[in-house]
Amino acid sequence: MQRALSTLPRVYVTRSMPPDGLDILRKSGQVQFETWDSDDPVPRAELLKKVKGVDALFCVLTEKIDAELLDAAGPNLRVVSTMSVGYDHLSLGELKKRGIRVGYTPDVLTDAVAELTVALLLCTSRRLVEATHEAKTGGWGTWRTLWLCGYELANSTVGIMGLGRIGVAIADRLKAFKVKKFIYTDVAPRPELANQIQAEYVSMDELAKQSDFLAVCCALTPDTQNICNKDLFSKMKKTSIFINTSRGGVVNQEDLYEALNAGEIAGAGLDVTVPEPLPTNHPLFTLKNCVILPHIASASFTTRNAMSSLAANNLLAGLRGEPMEKELKL
Ligand code: DGY
Repeated sequence: MQRALSTLPRVYVTRSMPPDGLDILRKSGQVQFETWDSDDPVPRAELLKKVKGVDALFCVLTEKIDAELLDAAGPNLRVVSTMSVGYDHLSLGELKKRGIRVGYTPDVLTDAVAELTVALLLCTSRRLVEATHEAKTGGWGTWRTLWLCGYELANSTVGIMGLGRIGVAIADRLKAFKVKKFIYTDVAPRPELANQIQAEYVSMDELAKQSDFLAVCCALTPDTQNICNKDLFSKMKKTSIFINTSRGGVVNQEDLYEALNAGEIAGAGLDVTVPEPLPTNHPLFTLKNCVILPHIASASFTTRNAMSSLAANNLLAGLRGEPMEKELKL
C-alpha cells in the first residue's frame, strides 16, 4: 500500500545530483526529498536550516558533516549517503556516536579516476599544456632538438603511494606503456592487490628514491595529512614526476612549490588542492612544470551517474534498515 507523501521519510539532497540517482529516489516511492537545486554548494546556514528533522542526507564532498550539522539535523537522522569515495568531509566519530549509518561510492569511479590519472601523468610528463600554449601563442618557431622534451614511461619505475583499487587500475593501464617496474608503499604490504600488477612493496624512502613517476592514491586521514612534504620531495629524482588525484591535504603545497621551483623534481600534476578552488593567484599556477586540474578525476557522465545511483541505493537501503551496497564500517 502507498503511504501518503507527507508521512514518508524526509531526505535532504545537498546539490543538483546526476539524474540517475534522483530517479531512483523518485521511483522508489519510499522517501520524500528536497534538493538544493544548484551546481554550487548549499550555503552552510541554509544547510543547517534544511537538515532539521530529516531522516537522511544525500550529500557530496563539499559538505562538512560534523557535530554542528548533526546537532542541527536532530535525532531523526539515520543515514548519511555521500556521493564520493572519499570521506574526509565526514566526522566519522560523531556519526558513530549517534548511530548514523554512512554510505559512500567506491568502485564505480575506479575506471574514470584511473583514466584521468594516466591522462594527467602524460600531460605533465610530456608537457602538453606548455606545448599547446607555445603553439597557440607564437612560441613555435621551428622544430628544435630538445625543445619541450619531457620524460617517457617506457622503462620507468612507477611508484604508487597507497595501493587500493585505483592504484591497481592505474598500473593496469600504464603496463601498456612498457613500464619496467611498479613499486608501492602503504601501512602494510597488500599482496592480494600487488600480485595483480606485480608490484613490489617498498618503504616510503625507497618509493621517493626509486620512482620516476609517483602517483598518490591514498585516502586523506590524520596519518596522511601533509605526508608529501619537503622530506619526500628532497629524496625524489630531479627527473621525477609527481601526480596527485587523491586529496590535496596529503601534500604540503608550499614544499611542493619549492621543490618544483628549485628543480628538485621535474613536474607535478594535481587534480586536487587545498583549498578548492585553488585561488588563481596561487604560486603553483605560476609554474610551467605544474599542471592543475579542477578535481575532475571521476567526471565522466557514466561514472557520475553511477555514483549518484549507488548513493541513492545506499540511502534507501539504509532507511529500510537493510545492508547497503557500500557502507562505511564505523
Ligand atoms: C571522490 O569521490 O571522493 C572523488 O574525489 C570525487 O569523485
